[in-house]
Amino acid sequence: MKVLVLGSGGREHALCWKLARSPLCQEVLCAPGNVGIGAVARCVPVAPDDGPAVVALAREEGVGLVVVGPEAPLVAGVADALREAGIPVFGPGRGAARLEESKAFMKDIASEAGVPTAAYASFTDPEAAKAYIRKQGGRLVVKADGLAAGKGVILCDTPDEAVAAVDLMMNDRAFGASGDTVVVEEFLEGEEVSFFVLCDGTRAIPLAGAQDHKAVGDGDTGPNTGGMGAYSPAPVLTPELQQRVMAEIIEPTLATMAARGTPYSGVLFAGLMVSADGPRLLEYNVRFGDPECQVLMMRLDSDLLPALLASAQGDLSGVDLTWSAGTALVVVMAAEGYPGTPRTGTEIRGLERAAATPGVQIFHAGTRPGPDGSIVAAGGRVLGVAAGGSTVAEARERAYEAVDRIDWPEGFCRRDIAWRALER
Ligand code: AMP
Ligand code: GLY
Repeated sequence: MKVLVLGSGGREHALCWKLARSPLCQEVLCAPGNVGIGAVARCVPVAPDDGPAVVALAREEGVGLVVVGPEAPLVAGVADALREAGIPVFGPGRGAARLEESKAFMKDIASEAGVPTAAYASFTDPEAAKAYIRKQGGRLVVKADGLAAGKGVILCDTPDEAVAAVDLMMNDRAFGASGDTVVVEEFLEGEEVSFFVLCDGTRAIPLAGAQDHKAVGDGDTGPNTGGMGAYSPAPVLTPELQQRVMAEIIEPTLATMAARGTPYSGVLFAGLMVSADGPRLLEYNVRFGDPECQVLMMRLDSDLLPALLASAQGDLSGVDLTWSAGTALVVVMAAEGYPGTPRTGTEIRGLERAAATPGVQIFHAGTRPGPDGSIVAAGGRVLGVAAGGSTVAEARERAYEAVDRIDWPEGFCRRDIAWRALER
């Protein structure tokens, strides 16, 4: 069958790369894709959040499955438009995508489902939020309710900082309408892990865990980014802990979503804090993580296509996935200036030599074709240099060997990806 992937980042490159290897896949199309994706898929200039245009493309091409990469098309209802047109789609409908779209909604669902999460209250009135902050005291986390490109969460050591965060969001409207509602929550201590499950509306099957590196600098310093590197598996997520997460967090959430008439299908990404008293839910995302997806695709031994199709068709009961026992690791190369204003248009050389490193795959995130067949930077996060290995140390060595073969003076990366796993 033909498969259409929506999106244009490193996550979508990894999805296209994996789907293209499926014996069931005749051709992968990607809308809009990027220059790296063009090596494994046919890129089509259609906007991924334009429902009617996506439906028209899928019909014209006789696509058998649409795989939605980012959250924006899901929140815009593109999966609903495809389902209404009778086209199988991997990803939740608008009602279920609210789990990522609204943090207050996510917290309400968690509370209704009895899922362990940070204590919280949500507010539309800044004065009420401030009164709550003064009453709670201590360290708190203030979150803009809506989508804010990963920037709408402020960790506050004192009530004064939390009050300032409320002013920033609600009075200065630093995140626009996303901050018109805020969630104030308990500050959780522990180690973070990303966990992914496939859902079909009622059932969930575990994929794997991964650990992301959100801060821009080595040693987790500097401002937060979309993610500077990841690896899987994450040793902190033991098999026992994973079972608890399924039983205490994922399954009650799916049951609650189904009972509300907005059953969840697609991939559910749980951001977890592993604390002394067990796993707690930090957030849900309704898509694969980026760059976590890149390492999951490197580690997945099974064919991805039948699993995504089973989710789209509402029956995961026959799906059984196998994963390599080794580790996959990805190092993100970003353009100077990121996560502020990245410098674009600079030429990247040595990609072929880097891709020839044993066990390495290079995923493009923000690239475009330059003059004379060259490749130039076109975004903040530009490349994901991924490697598999039998141990985390081996995967890391291979990934950095490939990074060092890339000639791009205007790019940078973290040099300490997977430090937690190595420290263990
Ligand atoms: P979120 O977008 O909700 O995952 O928040 C972004 C980051 O803020 C998370 O990855 C955590 O590192 C941190 N964070 C969010 N909520 C909390 C919390 N309640 N306690 C401590 N850290 C948090
Ligand atoms: N890497 C974190 C995310 O995709 O949200």
